Amino acid sequence: MRMYAFAAALALIACQAPPVAQDASAQAPAATSQGQAVAAQAPSRGPDVIFVPTPHETVAAMLKLGEVKKGDVLYDLGSGDGRIPIAAAKQFGVKGVGIDIDPQRIKEANENAKEAGVTNLVTFRQEDLFQADFREATVVTLYLLPSLNEKLRPRLLEQLKPGTRIVSHAFPMGDWQPEKTVEMENGSQIYLWRVPAKVSTD
Ligand SMILES: C[S@@+](CC[C@H](N)C(=O)[O-])C[C@H]1O[C@@H](n2cnc3c(N)ncnc32)[C@H](O)[C@@H]1O
Repeated sequence: MRMYAFAAALALIACQAPPVAQDASAQAPAATSQGQAVAAQAPSRGPDVIFVPTPHETVAAMLKLGEVKKGDVLYDLGSGDGRIPIAAAKQFGVKGVGIDIDPQRIKEANENAKEAGVTNLVTFRQEDLFQADFREATVVTLYLLPSLNEKLRPRLLEQLKPGTRIVSHAFPMGDWQPEKTVEMENGSQIYLWRVPAKVSTD
């Protein structure tokens, strides 16, 4: 609950200032003034939440919680500097895809992938995550906001195969109860969901 109050306060600040890159690992991300807009993909559309990186030890815990293993395809929706797909590629040799709407983040992520020597495994796409095709994912990671997770949920359930793991840093997904929740010593909270089998309504 403390996290929500903090995120809400940051959201107010962000509404008055343009999104900024920052390395404040302990902070929660904040909604931008475009927080409610779900426009078709367009270069002029701004991010729904500012860039705040997940601490590296939390990234490692997210990959563990998501049971990432050889053969997986990991998508980070709102990939920032690319640290999650890059860590997955480095640690497990898996294919990673990062999607971010901000061209500056895509540039940084590509530079970081190059530095990490994993450009053969990771790809970064400048897209709106609400328009993106992430069907091939077997693991999806998120560090967005509660409202964005909730808005994304129908797309996750529509696109992802049964059994796909979804791991969120800091924020739940409406009334979809997580299979597991981990509270880390660094204060991070991470959640795991597994896409259920599709049930026919005919
Ligand atoms: C809190 S950061 C998380 C970065 C990274 N996933 C991590 O955990 O370190 C959220 C990222 O989502 C991106 N973002 C916000 N709205 C987006 C949208 N509609 N489509 C794609 N990316 C978006 C922002 O540019 C930012 O880089």
